Amino acid sequence: MAETSDRLLETMMRRCFDLARQGQGYTSPNPMVGSVLAVKDQVLSEGFHPRYRQIHAEAMALNNARDVPHNILSQATLYVSLEPCFHYGFNPPCVDRILESPVQNVVISCMDPNPLVAGKSIARLKASGRSVTLGILAEEGEQLIRAFRTRMTKERPYVVLKWAESNDGYMGKPGQNVRISNDLSQVLTHRWRHELDAFLVGGKTVIVDNPQLNNRLYWGSSPHRIVYSTHASLPVDRAIWKADCPTILFSVCKLPDIPDQVQQFELPANRSEHLRFMLATLMHFPINSLLVEGGPHTLQSFIDQGVWDEVRIIRGRNQYLGSGLLAPTLRGRRTKRFDLGDDEVVTIFQDNDW
Ligand SMILES: NC(=O)c1ccc[n+]([C@@H]2O[C@H](COP(=O)([O-])OP(=O)(O)OC[C@H]3O[C@@H](n4cnc5c(N)ncnc54)[C@H](OP(=O)(O)O)[C@@H]3O)[C@@H](O)[C@H]2O)c1
Repeated sequence: MAETSDRLLETMMRRCFDLARQGQGYTSPNPMVGSVLAVKDQVLSEGFHPRYRQIHAEAMALNNARDVPHNILSQATLYVSLEPCFHYGFNPPCVDRILESPVQNVVISCMDPNPLVAGKSIARLKASGRSVTLGILAEEGEQLIRAFRTRMTKERPYVVLKWAESNDGYMGKPGQNVRISNDLSQVLTHRWRHELDAFLVGGKTVIVDNPQLNNRLYWGSSPHRIVYSTHASLPVDRAIWKADCPTILFSVCKLPDIPDQVQQFELPANRSEHLRFMLATLMHFPINSLLVEGGPHTLQSFIDQGVWDEVRIIRGRNQYLGSGLLAPTLRGRRTKRFDLGDDEVVTIFQDNDW
């Protein structure tokens, strides 16, 4: 490995990340993973984890190289964005698959946070005499698996709060469905619906906005839809109850007229336990990431209890409502921003480990 330049390792690992993202929206509760098999700068094959329960990235890359002669494979390096798995799931351990192959060099971005793996595969590869290089573009590798890591280490989804606000800080008018963001931002929001696993709205938003909460403007998957209701009734004619994607209702009691396809859970009597109860219950679903889409009352509950990892705000810079539903406020945290037409998209990251 000594003659392999850092630049080559990083180029190959970046390709692994790109490949991994091809599984975005489909791999949960598993992470996205990508893999490249190469001799120096010559790529022999590639692979990625396309969907939960389907083949893993390294196995796909090795399968795709099945016609490559043994003497070439024995000089090859297998790059993979995440430590290979050590355990039996829907697939046999990828570490065994590598050990059965002639490949001698393995380059990994980051260790698998799953306690069933967590360094065991790396140790096994090293014990077999394979060369293992760990930590190539580790920060980007960690970013790619951040929702999976949250699920594995904290037993809850990665929580993103999202809202649109006018330039004077309002999210809407009481009882009215007000459009704040532009067409480009609408597409971006639908892209997030593909990328994240579940979207949650409060009961009032279901009543007032009647959102469909599915992905119609971007390619790919639609999320699980989640409704958080603190009252004993909700209209049964809402779009959100349609059977086009899985829907979960958390409510103070079971609502009899809601269609059967909606999975219902009763909230604890103590209101302060609602959010953590919902997050813990979502561990029974293939949900690594949750986007809370409003309204302001629901968003404020998450902010007040500090149960969020990231906030995404779409600000309509030419929109002024003058009065209405005030957007939540957050101060003094790391942010990044970009423009999307006349909208501004701001991301704020949580500083507290919760
Ligand atoms: N700009 C944006 O990004 C955006 C996004 C989503 C929504 N919105 C707007 O936000 C507004 C709604 O926000 P919000 O803060 O009022 O509500 P919300 O966050 O959607 O829901 C929470 C509120 O709804 C009540 N509620 C919960 N379940 C209910 C049920 N089953 N029946 C009746 N009420 C129920 C709750 O009452 P309790 O207080 O009694 O628990 C609480 O006041 C809408 O006008 C919508 O257009 C804006």
